Amino acid sequence: MTKSAEHGLSKFHRLLIDQLRHEFTASHQYVALATWFDARDLPQLARVFYRQALEERDHAMMIVRYLIDSDVSVTIPRVDEIQNDFDTPRDLVALALRQEREVTNQFHMLMRVAREENDYTGEQFLHWFLQEQTEEVAKMSTLLAVIDRSAGNLFDVENFVARDMPDESGGSADAPSTAGPSLT
Ligand SMILES: [Fe+2]
Ligand SMILES: [Fe+2]
Repeated sequence: MTKSAEHGLSKFHRLLIDQLRHEFTASHQYVALATWFDARDLPQLARVFYRQALEERDHAMMIVRYLIDSDVSVTIPRVDEIQNDFDTPRDLVALALRQEREVTNQFHMLMRVAREENDYTGEQFLHWFLQEQTEEVAKMSTLLAVIDRSAGNLFDVENFVARDMPDESGGSADAPSTAGPSLT
């Protein structure tokens, strides 16, 4: 029998269901950022965020897979509010960095709770995500630094992104499986 929200889910599983919403929200928010760049003829920045949107969707679908395999009943949530109005390219990247830092904190909380509840399988599931968060925070802080250094020259930023931020070919081998098809 599957465990459902009304019937004694662990705190860890409840937080994981929240995380599903955060990952789908991140995916949607990155589509909004990519679209903004795309509409302003900044194809390289658009490419990075379209790709990032797919990665966030994969994160959500890894959680779906994990919940199904753990016999937790899964309902797909609506996403939180998406921001679409920005003044400068810097605002978009600053938002992305803020979002990645928030998600990192959410995974730290998940880890704390998995430990409190002696959920060893849950704890193991989180390791890949923690590593991934380190990379994504680093990526967005680099991009923000490049934008700041470019002093408004977006041609320089586009060149940097084209050269130094290629689409990585697939995820790491130790990435958790998704429900359904994934980027990798
Ligand atoms: Fe994510
Ligand atoms: Fe992310």
